[in-house]
Amino acid sequence: MQVITLIPGDGIGPEVTEATVRVLDAAGANFEWDRQVAGIEAMEKHGVPLPEELLDSIRRTKVALKGPVTTPVGKGFRSVNVQLRQALTLYANVRPARTLPGVKSRYDNVDLLIFRENTEGLYKGIEHTVIPGVVESIRIITAEASERIARFAFEWAGREGRQRLTAVHKANIMKLSDGLFLESFRKVSADYPDLEADDRIIDALCMHLVKAPEQFDVLVLPNLYGDIVSDLCAGLVGGLGVTPGANIGLESAVFEAVHGSAPDIAGQNMANPLALIRSAVMMLRHLERPELVDRVRGGLWDTIINKKIVTRDLGGTASTIEFTDEVVRSIDSGAARP
Ligand code: NAI
Repeated sequence: MQVITLIPGDGIGPEVTEATVRVLDAAGANFEWDRQVAGIEAMEKHGVPLPEELLDSIRRTKVALKGPVTTPVGKGFRSVNVQLRQALTLYANVRPARTLPGVKSRYDNVDLLIFRENTEGLYKGIEHTVIPGVVESIRIITAEASERIARFAFEWAGREGRQRLTAVHKANIMKLSDGLFLESFRKVSADYPDLEADDRIIDALCMHLVKAPEQFDVLVLPNLYGDIVSDLCAGLVGGLGVTPGANIGLESAVFEAVHGSAPDIAGQNMANPLALIRSAVMMLRHLERPELVDRVRGGLWDTIINKKIVTRDLGGTASTIEFTDEVVRSIDSGAARP
């Protein structure tokens, strides 16, 4: 039996992970879950936000499904999410943003694939006070990590039949750091002559994404830009409640939605579990279980398109549990994917 590490997280995390586990069970996944705590709950139980037990579990199982974990703002422990990605060298953060049938959004033709470098940049967390009133943050960009994410993106894009990859940067201002990221992307692109490669400056890219997102195909970004632009792209296709993600490394992979712990709606049975369920679909593809992918997608699209049942963030009235019940019912009835 396949063992998978399950990190429910906090805020809406336990609600959306529970929903996802129910959907996977209904599809017949039959996974054994190794449940692990992180963040505030781990601080209480183990005295650290990212326990060694959790890392060991993922090293063993190689695959994790993760709910969001709250990070204290301005003080307290460093982001568990960032630490986890660095500790396991989950260097590629993959975030598709696609217009979904049955989900209202401003555009009807978005199909973006975002690759965010996931281990360095400003997220190294190297910050200190120089003198009172002056702080310094250090941004690390290496050729090794920049080439690694570029190569990963070209490989994935080629497999998916994509046409064009765009590197996103601010190399006009940060000539050395973003310059190195861009140079690395260009170097790797030479190995993929069948794929188009170009680049955009981050600020102009944001304007073009909002005006005409269909003109882009695949985006490759350093860590901070990737974090921000992937939320922007989530907004183009229905919001954070629908957008999935994966963190992939050499040895292991952690699948989690783009969204955070949403403290404003936590514990109210209001969260949309679709983003995490779609992250689980990415996990099923990674595990090469196409029959499960088909069953879960059939259940989702039957619920959303045919029955028109969606949660409040998408303009519907269904609670987390009501939406999940319908997806499970659709899977049980053998709904096929459109
Ligand atoms: P957030 O993504 O949690 O919420 C932003 C807005 O989107 C809120 O209005 C929320 O209600 C809504 N939203 C998010 N997910 C939703 C869902 N599934 N269904 C319906 N509505 C949803 O971002 P925020 O508020 O900036 O961050 C909250 C906490 O989450 C912070 O501590 C942050 O550090 C953490 N976080 C954790 C992440 C992770 O674990 N990978 C990723 C992003 C943030």
